[in-house]
Amino acid sequence: MKPTVAVTHIFPPVALEKLKRRAEVLYNDSENSLTAAQLGDWAAKSAALISYLTDKIDAAVLDAGGDPLKIVANYGAGYNNIDVAHAQRKNIWVSNTPSVLHETTADLTWAMMLGIARRIVESDRFTREGRFHGWQADLFRGGDVHGQTLGVIGCGEIGAGVARRALGFDMRVLYHQHHRLPEAEEKTLNARFVSLDELLQESDFVTLHVPLTDETKYLIGAEQLAMMKPTAYLIHAARGKVVDDKALVKALKNNTIAGAALDVFENEPALTEGMTELDNLILLPHIGSASVATRDTMALLVVDNVFDALDGKIPRTLIPNWPGKRDA
Ligand code: DGY
Repeated sequence: MKPTVAVTHIFPPVALEKLKRRAEVLYNDSENSLTAAQLGDWAAKSAALISYLTDKIDAAVLDAGGDPLKIVANYGAGYNNIDVAHAQRKNIWVSNTPSVLHETTADLTWAMMLGIARRIVESDRFTREGRFHGWQADLFRGGDVHGQTLGVIGCGEIGAGVARRALGFDMRVLYHQHHRLPEAEEKTLNARFVSLDELLQESDFVTLHVPLTDETKYLIGAEQLAMMKPTAYLIHAARGKVVDDKALVKALKNNTIAGAALDVFENEPALTEGMTELDNLILLPHIGSASVATRDTMALLVVDNVFDALDGKIPRTLIPNWPGKRDA
């Protein structure tokens, strides 16, 4: 008999087909998330649960899963939606999708940097509204990107990808995180390790790539925004709650900083009041990894993790720092 695998949301056909060859699939192909009760119900029926970052996989869902549930395979690199400690207590593996989406997310981060500095969205709106009546010296003057200082907060795979691209733009790169990178990597990226305060004060672009943890929640609030240059931009494609969005709206209104581009929101998918009225803010619907190829690759990796668990092996991309890997 085939094992049952639950897929909580829309999943790329190529990965769904691969999954169906080995498993009975419970599939939510609607745009609506499953309720907590539905998640629990599907967990109880399944050997594996394929989840989105928007599914709250808490103790109740994991308890409902009981013994037959071997793995929660998250479709994304972040996994702050899962009660990992409880999963570990229950011997349920948790996997994510590292090392396959960082370049695509770094690309988007650069699109956001260039987009906000060169006022691409505003200019497009202006042009399509028929308001362009000829070249003008003061039309949409923005900030330069080349030759500026880039501050990367969180220099993991995505942050390093963003920093590496800065070499081609002749930028000075600063980075901050809880540990220093090996010297060789700093050299390759031409990046200098600095304190958070120094990074905020010195950078023309501050870009966030930390996971959401107790330490990074509201890492950027009114105090940090006030430390930034009035000509600087904040770029955010990590997890919404790393930034205090109310403080950001205020800083953008008061021109404390020049602009911001957000791919994630504090209360995602809800926007904070005042956001849509700001011209110096780009808003994107969490599309960091959304290239066709990358979203397929991520999904295929999710399926590989599920198959590993079903085969009694340790899933190939178990989340980091899994304590004392148990026998499969
Ligand atoms: C992730 O992987 O965590 C992203 O936010 C979704 O691509």
